[in-house]
Amino acid sequence: MQDTKIVPVVSTEFEKEVYSGLTDSPKHLSSKYFYDKKGDKLFQDIMAMPSYYLTDCEYEILKNNKEEITDLFTGFGSFDLIELGAGDGKKTKILLKEFSDKNIDFTYVPIDISQNALNQLHNSIEKELPKINVQPFQGTYFEALKEINNRKNRKIILFLGSNIGNLEHDQAVSFMNKIQNLMQPNDLLFMGFDQKKNPQTILDAYNDQEGVTAAFNKNVLTRINTELNANFDLDQFLHWEVYNPETGSAKSYLVSKTEQRVRVEKLDLDVHFNQWETIHTEISQKYDDEIISWLANESGLKMTTEYESKAHGYKNCVFKKS
Ligand code: AVI
Repeated sequence: MQDTKIVPVVSTEFEKEVYSGLTDSPKHLSSKYFYDKKGDKLFQDIMAMPSYYLTDCEYEILKNNKEEITDLFTGFGSFDLIELGAGDGKKTKILLKEFSDKNIDFTYVPIDISQNALNQLHNSIEKELPKINVQPFQGTYFEALKEINNRKNRKIILFLGSNIGNLEHDQAVSFMNKIQNLMQPNDLLFMGFDQKKNPQTILDAYNDQEGVTAAFNKNVLTRINTELNANFDLDQFLHWEVYNPETGSAKSYLVSKTEQRVRVEKLDLDVHFNQWETIHTEISQKYDDEIISWLANESGLKMTTEYESKAHGYKNCVFKKS
């Protein structure tokens, strides 16, 4: 009898990606699955830690330049302010408040993979800035493109927090190119880029002593345990961060401390780990001016303005269709 490989019926995107990531060599899981209620809270805790300098840098840029940014965004009548990966919106609220105080006519469209994060953000804006029209959208970045395409108003697209860094360069170019295709000549793309810097500063940002980043990284295993009925023992995995100062890529891994077997019941899958075998879980790319120009060129965008943080290397850049 012929040996037939039985592939279980995997229906959701999560199931498909977990199955392919844990049966691939080397193993990998996507960082987009860090974010559920627990992961959102852990990410908020990370953003509040001084070692995770990115948030403070961007906050400083938005606070110090809010008037100029407001002038840049307004002047062509009403617009949609579309934010990709809005999260808790803490930094965006600097601009939202400024727009609200100046009675600027706009609709805020926060987009996030986490419905929980969107609900919290929506509630907090209703309380703090009740004049603002908020139209949240839940989905991945790629699902967000459809939503952007459906909106016919002038668009200002925000992509803050160096969220672009969670994509590999080819994915980043493809994504920015798709955004560019949806833009009209007066539309703007406003993005945050964490810059290359002292490698130790970067390692410290992704490897805090309190273990918050480790718990954030391991949350993908917790989700597999609860949502796909698996038995990962979190203590049997190490959070490991590496930074390559040449390429600017910071990468997070989960490293198996022992040889072990993990059962993922919902996928009818047994996963074998050798001792010290890895699961690559996240890339947090760091940039320099050359890489940013290259990304813009490849995507059909031209940079019109840039703002730099004084504290650490971090930039916010404004792009138009070229
Ligand atoms: C959301 N993203 C830009 C964060 C980053 O810096 O890559 C997620 C994160 N991972 C570990 N700490 C923070």
